[in-house]
Amino acid sequence: MRVAIIGGGGLVGSCAGFALQCGGIVSELDLIDVNGDLVKGHTLDLLHGASLAADQRIRNSGYEVIPHCDLVIITAGLRRKPDESRLDLINRNTQLFLTILDQVKAAGLSQEAVVLVVSNPVDILTYVAAHKLGLSWSRVMGLGTVLDTARFRSLIAEAMSLPATQVSATILGEHGDSMVPIWSHAQIAGMPLSHYPGWSTQLGDQLFQRTRGGGAEAIKLKGGAGFAVGLSIREVVHAVALDSKRILPVSSVIQGAYGIRDVALSVPTIVGRSGVVAQLQLELSPRETSALQSSARVLRETINQVIAANPDAAAATASRPASPSPAASKAVSTSGRGMVRVTMGGSGR
Ligand SMILES: NC(=O)c1ccc[n+]([C@@H]2O[C@H](COP(=O)([O-])OP(=O)(O)OC[C@H]3O[C@@H](n4cnc5c(N)ncnc54)[C@H](O)[C@@H]3O)[C@@H](O)[C@H]2O)c1
Repeated sequence: MRVAIIGGGGLVGSCAGFALQCGGIVSELDLIDVNGDLVKGHTLDLLHGASLAADQRIRNSGYEVIPHCDLVIITAGLRRKPDESRLDLINRNTQLFLTILDQVKAAGLSQEAVVLVVSNPVDILTYVAAHKLGLSWSRVMGLGTVLDTARFRSLIAEAMSLPATQVSATILGEHGDSMVPIWSHAQIAGMPLSHYPGWSTQLGDQLFQRTRGGGAEAIKLKGGAGFAVGLSIREVVHAVALDSKRILPVSSVIQGAYGIRDVALSVPTIVGRSGVVAQLQLELSPRETSALQSSARVLRETINQVIAANPDAAAATASRPASPSPAASKAVSTSGRGMVRVTMGGSGR
């Protein structure tokens, strides 16, 4: 699989490159960035380690490679200031993002490619990309709450002295202030986390607050998130490359799950070679469902503001709906323990 990282010279893009090199799954990696020397330096550094990692072709490239790429990751963007909300970033980032989308489209992006948006505010930019790129809605994903979920699990594990990979806890909704912790399904080694000795609701609240502020904490301490976001990107890229159908909280344009439409955010999503294979509506507590719906309202309001302030994004949005025909949705029984509503992604347009 050939993967391009637009913004590959930046902190997030270069950490994603290193994570993908260590992962050894993708065969070709193209780093693209307007900062020529920096991206050349990162490419050279990665290349130096190739003999100790994997047989991959690693190049510093331009947009001309886009038609040959199976997956395009966009990490180019402006960083959040310490006290700036992700949504405030939108005014500074949308114009830059639209320029990049134009370049990607003009280069001749394949209809079979998958695009992974990482730049913030990721849910808004995922929605814009889904409308602007002319791909099926299911081929455009955002990193969504994959990083937040990783942080959440790791912080719970650290506080409880548990092995991090055995903590299972998910964050859904916006990658931002309205994100929703899904306590009703949180587990340690397959058992309810709420029953584990030493666990309390108060500790849970503290850990969630720290998770929600994790990005700002990393910005204050080291200028921005890098390693964990790199690994989060790798998780999604490998699910696509291996067609593994992993269930990940990526962001995509929601097609009716939880009563939500016409907004991109994170719900449990099956990810495979064609991007979003299906969006799942698993049963949540009434409180969690309503928090998810209010997260969707927050994002919808911001999209409206973006469309009002950005004629370019508005024109693209109006001309190319991200859901041209109603997506197939069905309820599937899970051995008498309730129903899961499944909204299938398309394999083409
Ligand atoms: N979704 C998430 O979970 C998540 C997590 C962390 C950071 N982010 C976001 O990722 C983005 C990048 O963060 P960073 O810390 O890597 O910033 P950074 O400043 O280190 O890197 C951004 C890179 O983009 C490049 N760039 C700018 N315009 C470009 C263009 N037109 N074409 C190609 N490259 C271009 C810059 O030269 C720079 O190297 C930000 O928007 C940040 O908020 C998202």
